[in-house]
Amino acid sequence: MTFKDLRGEALTTVHASSAQAYNQTLDLFNSFRADPLAVITPALEQDPAFISGHLLLAGMMLGTYDPNMNAPAGASLDHAAASPLAPTAREQSLHAALRVWADGDMNAGSARLDRHLIDHPRDLLALQLAHTADLALGRTTMLRDRIARVLPAWSESDAGYGYVLGMQAFGLEECFAYEQAEDVGRRAVALQPHDTWAVHAVAHVCEMQGRVADGIQWMNETRGAWEANNGLAVHNHWHLALMHLARGEHAAVLALYDQAVVPSPTALALDLADASALLWRLAMRGVDVGSRWQSLAQRWRAQGLFGAVGFLDVHAALSFAAAGDDEGMALLARAGAQAAARPGAFAEWGAVANPAREAIAAMVAGQHARCVDLLLPVLPVAQALGGSHAQRDLLTLTVQEAAKRSGHRALFGALQAQRQVHHLPITPLHSAVLSSSSRAPQRRTSLA
Ligand SMILES: [Fe+2]
Repeated sequence: MTFKDLRGEALTTVHASSAQAYNQTLDLFNSFRADPLAVITPALEQDPAFISGHLLLAGMMLGTYDPNMNAPAGASLDHAAASPLAPTAREQSLHAALRVWADGDMNAGSARLDRHLIDHPRDLLALQLAHTADLALGRTTMLRDRIARVLPAWSESDAGYGYVLGMQAFGLEECFAYEQAEDVGRRAVALQPHDTWAVHAVAHVCEMQGRVADGIQWMNETRGAWEANNGLAVHNHWHLALMHLARGEHAAVLALYDQAVVPSPTALALDLADASALLWRLAMRGVDVGSRWQSLAQRWRAQGLFGAVGFLDVHAALSFAAAGDDEGMALLARAGAQAAARPGAFAEWGAVANPAREAIAAMVAGQHARCVDLLLPVLPVAQALGGSHAQRDLLTLTVQEAAKRSGHRALFGALQAQRQVHHLPITPLHSAVLSSSSRAPQRRTSLA
């Protein structure tokens, strides 16, 4: 017997309550609200044959981007496979995609999700997971195009349509269609104020355009949706901190770090990455961050699975290098070398992560010219590392700071000019428009 989810996708179960739990859990997952596990876990205990429930649980764990979640996700997939009920074609297809992802090959999982969504464009779980994989794998245009592919199968009256718009907004932003991205993102938030991914997309637009005041206003207007009990709480606070950093408000940034970015006992790997990136940006400005690096390095050690996700390894390197943790850096180097030699996503990530790690070590050691030599050639291919433009900007900032400290004025100036590329051009042609627009860009604060 099957029931249907809110989009009409069949769910294999004999219990109506399981289908209800699925809908509720997926809605929480779509908006990063707490606590989807508290809904789906008891449902699966009562209905262990609920195939889509196990797939949802596995997908939510994989969507954390945390390699520690691969094994428990695999166990959920085992439970789905052990169900005595016959899976639907959608469930079979999704199961196969998540299996290869849980086995450590996000590339192959993404490719299977790609095909899956052609046949099942209204599978909102699969869509969000594919969107997440696109971000992790640096498939920037797919952040936009994947959503464009499914939109003809959706209408505004569909449950969850706003989440599709939220993903579209982020994809448009990453493809530099800022005005369109902001319009779609604000529309998504108007439809569903708790859609923190859409909130986040608009924050990215403000970040990329240097619109600090607009960004802070937006985050304050929406903070009720994301500042607590939300999977994006740390990351959206990180975005808010970047806005204050652009104003040179270092005390406010440190306060935000201590209140909302510093890893909690239950923090996932991406939270540690945000914390590392924020401290690094402060340190490059000459701000004394005290013993925070040492505490963070200990958290990375506890997190522990290196050589699995290049983006995470780079951020761990920031923490280990700045904390003077040579053993941690050696761990990363060994893991990075091993991972780059085996098939899978790290072969692409490693081409960025390995030289970036060495460049970070050189920067901390005061070998600024060496940092430039290692990291400047990586910048054109840094997209392969995954993450957003705003996150990878840290690499450009590091080269720029190394250029400054090594006296390479021409390179510093060139990168300073590059930094302005996303801002609306200030030319006589545009100035009349900008002077009457609330979206006029503000110049970012120069590196100290
Ligand atoms: Fe972001």
